[in-house]
Amino acid sequence: MDIISVVSAKGGVGKSTLTANLAVALRTRGYSVLAVDTDPQNSLHFHFSFRLKSDQGLVHAAHSDHSVQHLISPTPAGVDLLAYGHCTESQRADFEHVLNRSPDWLVRSLHNLQPRYDLILLDTPPGASSYLAQALSASTLVAGVTLADAGSYVTLPQLQSLVDTYCLPQRHFKGFGIIVNQVDQNKPLNRDVVSMVRASFGESVMGLIHLDQAVSEALAYGQDLFQYAPHSEAARDIAVCADWINRALSVVKVA
Ligand SMILES: Nc1ncnc2c1ncn2[C@@H]1O[C@H](COP(=O)(O)OP(=O)(O)OP(=O)(O)O)[C@@H](O)[C@H]1O
Ligand SMILES: [Mg+2]
Repeated sequence: MDIISVVSAKGGVGKSTLTANLAVALRTRGYSVLAVDTDPQNSLHFHFSFRLKSDQGLVHAAHSDHSVQHLISPTPAGVDLLAYGHCTESQRADFEHVLNRSPDWLVRSLHNLQPRYDLILLDTPPGASSYLAQALSASTLVAGVTLADAGSYVTLPQLQSLVDTYCLPQRHFKGFGIIVNQVDQNKPLNRDVVSMVRASFGESVMGLIHLDQAVSEALAYGQDLFQYAPHSEAARDIAVCADWINRALSVVKVA
């Protein structure tokens, strides 16, 4: 079983969008996939045609002696989903207390799900947090997401340092790839940032996702992109990233 976390130092770059759509793309490549939302914003489930029950989510595992298995829901896309869950502030605080007390809580909970899934994709909150630390420590592969702008590009060293801290010590870690999202090739600055990312990360650039209105429309309809606009430019781009992951998982080290 491989665990892939989708991460960024900066918010709003497309992590949840990419987690959901990469999960669907990898499902169609034959993997059994679980998508997990480790972000209290609890927004991953909006990308699937799916109504989340009030007590269904990772946060509700804080007071449960059972495995997280009973908190997982199937989605129409064939991907299973473990949402963060609707919760009160005190439920969130209790859950974060559990995470702070047990830094390996997430990895243990996910490994209890073996052999049900080939792949688990983790959506994460932006920047350093106990959620991100747990997600990175559990990951065999990390997908760092950046926009093709200066503000996002300058946060990449911070992301690299988090990966170095939490992932490199793990024996199971296979590599760190970068996805540049919302690329507009008509903008010179976008093209320059893409060149700089390619120069820094080389073969570890998983792919570029074009700025595509179909992405935000799919979310507005509560659908994944492959359901809403399977022939869109962004759907093709995400498929390229899924192929990169497919290749990366079949080799021992990619970065
Ligand atoms: N390639 C794209 N083209 C157009 N819009 C996009 C693209 N990728 C993401 N978006 C839009 O950008 C917004 C932010 O995306 P998303 O919520 O996935 O970011 P995030 O990194 O998960 O944010 P947060 O850090 O708050 O969790 C959404 O409205 C989404 O529809
Ligand atoms: Mg998000």
